[in-house]
Amino acid sequence: MNDFTLEVAELTKTYNAGKPNEVRVLQGVSLSVKPGEVVGLVAPSGAGKSTLLHIAGLLDTPDTGTVTIGGTDMTNLSDRKRTAVRRGTVGFIYQFHHLLPEFTALENIVLPQLANGVTEKAAHARAMDLLGKVGIAERASHRPAALSGGEQQRVAFCRSLANEPALLLADEPTGNLDPDTSDQVFDALMTLVRDTGLAAVIATHNLELAARMDRQVRLTAGVLEMI
Ligand SMILES: Nc1ncnc2c1ncn2[C@@H]1O[C@H](COP(=O)(O)OP(=O)(O)OP(=O)(O)O)[C@@H](O)[C@H]1O
Ligand SMILES: [Mg+2]
Repeated sequence: MNDFTLEVAELTKTYNAGKPNEVRVLQGVSLSVKPGEVVGLVAPSGAGKSTLLHIAGLLDTPDTGTVTIGGTDMTNLSDRKRTAVRRGTVGFIYQFHHLLPEFTALENIVLPQLANGVTEKAAHARAMDLLGKVGIAERASHRPAALSGGEQQRVAFCRSLANEPALLLADEPTGNLDPDTSDQVFDALMTLVRDTGLAAVIATHNLELAARMDRQVRLTAGVLEMI
């Protein structure tokens, strides 16, 4: 057992290893995040932010290195166990919102809770509460296509927090929005994060947004430097 919500150690990841199109993305990445701590992950496009977050969030596996969440080493867990841990412990906000198009905003937040064993009534109440916190309760019955980009991202935030994760990983959560909308949506996210007190790693190109987090790390040439 340790005191970190997330601890990744010496991660390496190479795509197309040994082929002419080999891409060495992570070359020994280590990062520890304490409960309640919000870390900004900054790096240029293509540096490996999504790769790192997907590995930390158990959506992908590293070539070598370890991922420890809440003191449990995830390296040798079965796929079934990893999925169960991910569902209950990790909230993920994708670079593109990934909402289910055929379901309403509310249903997109309810469904992951049902998959995690929550009753329909409780899931519904929590979804409405979260939508209210990000200011779009009145959009609950809209499908994603009938929401603005900023509203879609707010729904994605709510979905990521639906199962009360201990860890939030956000991959450029406001990267596809215009600057004004980005600021507002980012405020909504930070309010949610501070409100729940969870640990978070938030990737962004935006240095001003990164400066509002507790600390920042930069991914350069496959390793992380503290800034
Ligand atoms: N499945 C894959 N197969 C081969 N190469 C990949 C794959 N996924 C990513 N890459 C390459 O790995 C590098 C890192 O990609 P990644 O998506 O992690 O970067 P990023 O920092 O998230 O970029 P962006 O800011 O544009 O989202 C890029 O050069 C990319 O082309
Ligand atoms: Mg990316």
